[in-house]
Amino acid sequence: MKAVILAGGTGTRLMPLTSYINKHMLPVGRHPMIHHGIESLRRAGINEILIITNRQSAETFIRYFGSGEDRKVSLVYRIQEGAGGIADALQLARPFIADGEKFLVLLGDNLFEEDLTPYIHDFRQQQDGAMVLLKEVDDPHRYGIPVFDASGAIKRIEEKPAEPQSNLSVTGLYMYSSDVFERIENISPSSRGELEITDLNNLYAAAGLLTYRTLAGWWMDAGTFESLKEASARYWDIEY
Ligand code: G1P
Repeated sequence: MKAVILAGGTGTRLMPLTSYINKHMLPVGRHPMIHHGIESLRRAGINEILIITNRQSAETFIRYFGSGEDRKVSLVYRIQEGAGGIADALQLARPFIADGEKFLVLLGDNLFEEDLTPYIHDFRQQQDGAMVLLKEVDDPHRYGIPVFDASGAIKRIEEKPAEPQSNLSVTGLYMYSSDVFERIENISPSSRGELEITDLNNLYAAAGLLTYRTLAGWWMDAGTFESLKEASARYWDIEY
């Protein structure tokens, strides 16, 4: 399976650091943040990876990772112009994915302790639709939070709700088939002018096509100073 890592954005919650460096290249332990995501993918048998970033940051990624050869992965890059949102960036993956092919999307600031292999295996067995990974969190207002129906299926996801319906967060790892590109054409920009990943996932949920698994291990979105500090401490002794 191939993967797409989304590594653009402005990283406003990590200003002023992100005024000179892309969030995903900030150090977490002994490596740039995104290095850990690439390593998680590689360990799960994914070694064909597209990194989508922005014009200002591409050089930093290329200088550090190059072709990916040193890390035993094959990396290619695309540039998102402007700030059209996560689902807008994802559209750039269209030429990288064949018709009917399944693939994984990872937000580059997401860090997973656990081996992702079993989840990828389950999604390979799934006939249609998409799959998300959930994790219990203390601060659900910060994330996409699912609302479940009586059967336990995801009815919809609420993005950063004021009154969260559960303490399970949708993590930044999504599994789709190539049909996702047609679905992106059916979403409109949100009030902040972006194509939101949650709106895209809600199209699957409304059609009863959004499955999920709940993570057992530690997970973190390292996009704030507090989480960056915790992530860095956890990864301090990890060397690849
Ligand atoms: C994004 C998604 C959100 C998800 C989170 C996980 O939020 O919109 O649904 O829970 O990633 O990291 P962001 O961190 O871009 O605000």
